[in-house]
Amino acid sequence: MSKRRILVTAALPYANGPIHLGHLVEYIQTDIWVRFQKIRGHHCIFLCADDTHGTAIMIRARNEGRSEEEVIAEASEDHQRDFAGFHISFDNYGSTHSEENREICGEIWNSIRQAGLVTEKDVEQLFDAEQGTFLADRFVRGTCPNCKAEDQPGDNCSKCGTTYGTADLIDPVSTLSGTKPEVRTAKHLFIELEQLHDFLDEWTQSGDHLQPEVANYLKGHFLGDPDSEEGSKPLRDWDISRPAPYFGFEIPDSPGNYWYVWFDAPIGYIASTKQWCEKNGENLADWWRSDDTEIHHFLGKDITYFHTLFWPGLLETSRSISPALFLREQTWISTGRH
Ligand code: 2FM
Ligand code: ZN
Repeated sequence: MSKRRILVTAALPYANGPIHLGHLVEYIQTDIWVRFQKIRGHHCIFLCADDTHGTAIMIRARNEGRSEEEVIAEASEDHQRDFAGFHISFDNYGSTHSEENREICGEIWNSIRQAGLVTEKDVEQLFDAEQGTFLADRFVRGTCPNCKAEDQPGDNCSKCGTTYGTADLIDPVSTLSGTKPEVRTAKHLFIELEQLHDFLDEWTQSGDHLQPEVANYLKGHFLGDPDSEEGSKPLRDWDISRPAPYFGFEIPDSPGNYWYVWFDAPIGYIASTKQWCEKNGENLADWWRSDDTEIHHFLGKDITYFHTLFWPGLLETSRSISPALFLREQTWISTGRH
């Protein structure tokens, strides 16, 4: 049997919370699969990292009177202790707040810009003037504009199921300060995913990158079916930036704007590999840019579309702009419970 080179990742846990049983189900299953490949003699590495960016960490650091860096350093220690306690053995445990990640985010971002996929739009969002921050949906509650049920979440009503934007809520309240937020407009950068539609149709629907259930889910919910009567569905532009204040990486060519956490999170897989390569005298290119390497992403089904639409789209764009960059041919995505 020839020796395979296999790169395995498990979804990166958020730094703003502890490792719980749901996480462990995923990591233990992945760890067993990795151990099996290693025992078979394959060159298999298992990579993970903390997912550190976003508003939640920023707010928590503020409330606790310490820096975001202190909060995420503590989380990393806690997470690694808990993983070790369950004998989950990563070859490298990184952080999305690393210089390696910032650098690779920049490379991929440049490709996306060059490919003409980035567009700018004004977005109306609720702003908490007391906390000085824009509010993500989960930080707003209010009265449902449809059934008038009070104290409902910022994105959908738990009583009647209607989905809406936070700006549509009646009497919205910021859960951060208890004050009434104001509507403010800010510039956001978007990736025009629709330009990648043909590629995503092909990548998700042919080959064996995905389980058939996942391929069907993507076709039904997002991509549509070009051969059906309804035809393809246009993919919505992906809002990829957040205005300051935000804990993350500032976008080099758009000062005052930060990459949304879901942009830099999967790139953290590559950054963690880079750290492992540096410690072990290996080349990143052999792992992410080689036809001879298999890449297996294990994740929970709730985050499928980030990994099956955005992620292959980012990698493909990088590769088509700069052929030496990241490869996608031998990539498998396995979703289970998370
Ligand atoms: O859903 C989550 O817990 C995310 N932190 C997973 C990120 S996986 C990857 F893209 F980084
Ligand atoms: Zn309602």
